[in-house]
Amino acid sequence: MNWDHYVRPGIRAMAGYTPGEQPQTGSVLKLNTNENPYPPSAKALEAMRRVLDEPGAERLRRYPEPFGDRFRDTAARVLGVKPGNILIGNGSDDILTILTRTLVPEGGRVQSLEPSYLLYGTLASLQGAQMDEVPFGPGWSLPEPWPNSGANLVFLPNPNSPSGTVVDLQSIRRVLPQMKAPLVLDEAYVDFAPATGLDLVREGLPVIVTRSLSKGYALAGLRFGYAVADEALVRELEKVKDSYNCDALSLAAAEAALGDGEWLAETRAKVIASREHLERGLAHLGFSVTPSQANFVWCRHPHHVAKTLFDGLKARNIFIRLMRYPGHADGIRITVGTPEGTQRVLDTLADLMAKKV
Ligand SMILES: Cc1ncc(COP(=O)(O)O)c(C=O)c1O
Repeated sequence: MNWDHYVRPGIRAMAGYTPGEQPQTGSVLKLNTNENPYPPSAKALEAMRRVLDEPGAERLRRYPEPFGDRFRDTAARVLGVKPGNILIGNGSDDILTILTRTLVPEGGRVQSLEPSYLLYGTLASLQGAQMDEVPFGPGWSLPEPWPNSGANLVFLPNPNSPSGTVVDLQSIRRVLPQMKAPLVLDEAYVDFAPATGLDLVREGLPVIVTRSLSKGYALAGLRFGYAVADEALVRELEKVKDSYNCDALSLAAAEAALGDGEWLAETRAKVIASREHLERGLAHLGFSVTPSQANFVWCRHPHHVAKTLFDGLKARNIFIRLMRYPGHADGIRITVGTPEGTQRVLDTLADLMAKKV
């Protein structure tokens, strides 16, 4: 059977997004997709157990809350917004898809900072839209004046991946009117950063903040994310999302996780301490390190080939990410692990570099 005749030409022409490698064995030190090295909040695990233990597994037998009202109440309280400002998603990727489908017409244009999260380009292609990549300004700043291309939507990950850098809110406020399009502030890594752009939403600016429970909350396997946006926009986004895009277990866990501020503060402090250790260790090995506000570090070495280091680590069961972007030297991105994991990757790199592999 030849499906070429049936599949949309735009889909056939696409390469598709390549997710990071997900080895399903415990013996690997997995520092390639920015997961949290610590177990999630015990309260989140307990909330899921309560769902499973209900008589007749009632909450699994029935459809889940379509709009996640209980989660929205908790999120609104924690974030200081209204429940109507919150859109629930099956991971923040789901939220990014819903935003693109709602705000970008077929044949439209999307702008994203470059280099950044590659999924934005895939979402634009799926929508039959053009992706305009905008290089960062000096020191990973927003370029000014903004190169307005008539885009329907702009994506800015803050902190950015792979650089781990943040753009300050004053420059966003300054550049936003020049964009002439809504701005998605992708805050997947904000739990490790000093500031959030939620104030921009509260001030009624055309900004949508997207959040993930995969990184700061150690729940990547659960698939839960959310957006904070103007209530009128959330009502439109809800028309586009799948009716039941979040399941009963993830809703219960997400609500408990967001309510457990103590767990977040402790875990965040541990990850930031390991991040500083990793940055110092890499600099000591001669890497050029971009200071990170996220839970990963991006670095390049003047004398060692990134692909060789990547392969050498992989051969020793340590998975990191090889990052190749046009106009930038090949680099590696290493997720911040536990203190032991961080030391192991540093020691192994030192070993590999001493052997000149
Ligand atoms: C910048 C950025 N945004 C969003 C995501 C997606 O996260 P989630 O697991 O919530 O879909 C990622 C995942 O790596 C990311 O790097």
